[in-house]
This record gives sequence, C-alpha cells and structure tokens, in this order.
Amino acid sequence: MSNAVEQIRKVELGTGGPLVGVQGFGAMGISAAYGETDGAAARDTLEATLEAGVTLIDTADMYGFGANEEFLAPFVAAHRDEITLATKFGFEFRAGESSYRGISNDPAYIRKAAEGSLRRLNVEAIDLYYMHRRDAAVPLAESVGAMAELVREGKVKRLGLSEVTGAELHEAHAVHPITAVQSEWSVFSRDVEQSAVGAAAALGVAFVPYSPLGRGFLTGAFTDASKELSGSDFRQLLPRFSGDNAEANAALLAPLRTIAADHGASTAQIALAWVQQRAQAHGLTVVPIPGTRKRSRLLENAAATRITLTAEELALLEPIAGRVAGDRYADMSHTAVAREA
Ligand SMILES: NC(=O)c1ccc[n+]([C@@H]2O[C@H](COP(=O)([O-])OP(=O)(O)OC[C@H]3O[C@@H](n4cnc5c(N)ncnc54)[C@H](OP(=O)(O)O)[C@@H]3O)[C@@H](O)[C@H]2O)c1
Repeated sequence: MSNAVEQIRKVELGTGGPLVGVQGFGAMGISAAYGETDGAAARDTLEATLEAGVTLIDTADMYGFGANEEFLAPFVAAHRDEITLATKFGFEFRAGESSYRGISNDPAYIRKAAEGSLRRLNVEAIDLYYMHRRDAAVPLAESVGAMAELVREGKVKRLGLSEVTGAELHEAHAVHPITAVQSEWSVFSRDVEQSAVGAAAALGVAFVPYSPLGRGFLTGAFTDASKELSGSDFRQLLPRFSGDNAEANAALLAPLRTIAADHGASTAQIALAWVQQRAQAHGLTVVPIPGTRKRSRLLENAAATRITLTAEELALLEPIAGRVAGDRYADMSHTAVAREA
C-alpha cells in the first residue's frame, strides 16, 4: 500500500500569477505568536506542505521580529523552485528589538525592510511581497511606487496588500498590478466582504484569507484564551477569545460541529471548505493559509479542499459572523474595516 498523500489542486494566484496549491500555509505559528513551539515538529510540518501540494508559504518580517523568516530559510533553500514564498513589511522594528514601533509605509523604510527579509530568508528575490498594514501618513501611490521599484530591480516578483479596502486596492492596482490581497476571512470574520472581496474579484486579484480557522477557535481547540493559553500566546489579547465573549462565541460553533459530523470531517475542515465556497460565490480565486505546528493537521487541512458543502449547510453557517461577540483585534485602527466609508 502506498503512503503517498493526495495532492491538492492548483490555481493561478491572480491573473497571470504563479500556479500554487489551492490552500497555502501560514508559517507564523510555527515559531511565533501562539505559545510554545517545537522546531523538529515544525520542520516536519513544513516538509508535509509539499507532500500535500501546499506551495504558497506565508511569513512576515514581524513574526518573531525576523525569527520566523530565519526559521524558514533552510526549508526555502532546500525547495526554492517548488514554493511561492510570501513575506510582508509594515510593522516597523529594528534588528534586535522585540516590539514594533508603529506602522510604516515610508519608501525608504520599505527598501530597508525588503533588504532585511531577503537577507533573513537568504533568497535573491521574494516571490510575493505584501504591505502588511496601511500607513495613512504616506500616500498609497508613493508606497506602491516604492514596492514597484523593488520589482523592477528584481528583488521582488509580485506585489500584495494586507488589510486594505476595495478602494485602496483599486488605487494601488492602478500604480502596479497587485497579485493578491491577504486579509482575515472566515466563518467568524467577514468584514472583507464589504468591499475588498468585490474589488479583488473585479480586478482578477487573488484573495489569501488569513486566520481561516479563526486563529484556532473554530476548531474548538480552546474557548477562553485568557484561562487556557500560555502567557506568550497573542490570542489572549484578542477581545473575542476571552471571558463572556469567548463563552458566547463558543456556542456559535454548534452548526459547524453538526456539519462536521455529517461529513465525517473536523470543524477545521468545514471552516476551510466554507471559505473556498464563499469565494466561489464571489467569483474569486482564494488560497487560504491556515497555520499549524503539526504534520497531521496540515494533511487534515489540505484534505478539506475536497469537501463540498450543500446549500443547506452554507445557510446554517451564514448567520454566525453577524453574531460574534468582540472585535478581532484589541486595536482595530489598523484594519481595513476601520477605513471603510
Ligand atoms: N496579514 C496579516 O495581518 C495576518 C494576520 C494573522 C495571520 N496571518 C497569516 O495567516 C496564517 C494563518 O493564520 P493564523 O495562524 O492566525 O490562524 P488559523 O490558521 O486560523 O489558525 C491557526 C491555529 O489553528 C490550529 N489548527 C490548525 N489546524 C488545525 C486543525 N486541523 N485542528 C485543530 N487545530 C488546528 C493551530 O494550532 P496547532 O499549531 O497546534 O495545530 C493554530 O493554533 C498565519 O500563519 C500568518 O501567516 C496574517
């Protein structure tokens, strides 16, 4: 009997973009943000991505303040031609610092940040370079112009934006083609459907939903982050995952559980199938990037790309986001929804 893992299907990442597996991998949690990590298990999980056909690998300079990019570098070196490597700039920090100073989209900073990422990832070019957050102090055209300069110099192949509104996406795309928008999108978080999703569909820009598992909450792995997760876990700071909010939100998972049982699947898989189908309804290519520190979960998540939910099941999940208690960040000022007209 073969132990070969079934490969997921491939899609074009935005019009004319590279072919990538229809699900990507969010690398943040393998060395940062979500509590204790195990280097060996994380490396094994990374190897499992390619076995499953997961080829879009996502990091950012601020995950562990450079450490996540450095952790990925050996894997990237071993598989440079098999993966599409995405990283981001925008949360300003300096070498050796462990908190960020603010959000910067200043052209000189963008160049410095790109050079730092190239060095830590040990690559000649970044396949997809995202503006992580919008800094309203700098005109968008100036920042995207600076990003485009990196493309002309061969340091970056394609551009992306994270947490932008539909209007901002249109404006940026007029300066230089944008390949992908990365923003939070899940059964619990649907503010992107206000404008960014429609704009991406209209422009042929791919959508890369981050935290498609609601940072793990949709899997039922924890209820109250302030009581159940370790002190170093960033999720303790997120209003929807602690106290009364968390308790109320946990009750919203009941339909996910029912549907999962009917499919012989996990709630994580149903959450991932939902975002794929929701995007199809918008005529949009999506490549969600769930994160996990475990090989078995990587394979489980990839298998979700083969699940199709019925119209009745989608209808059961439809009202959930509107009932979620608490914001997705303690400080929402840097999110796209804060700038929606
Ligand atoms: N652009 C942005 O501003 C932004 C913001 C946040 C995240 N991101 C990107 O998006 C990626 C994914 O988001 P995320 O990591 O925040 O959240 P997520 O993918 O929604 O959830 C990750 C959590 O779910 C757990 N998990 C994963 N698969 C599971 C499964 N099958 N069963 C049970 N639990 C499972 C993981 O735990 P284990 O590790 O223990 O499996 C982890 O705690 C990040 O890695 C990062 O690259 C981008």
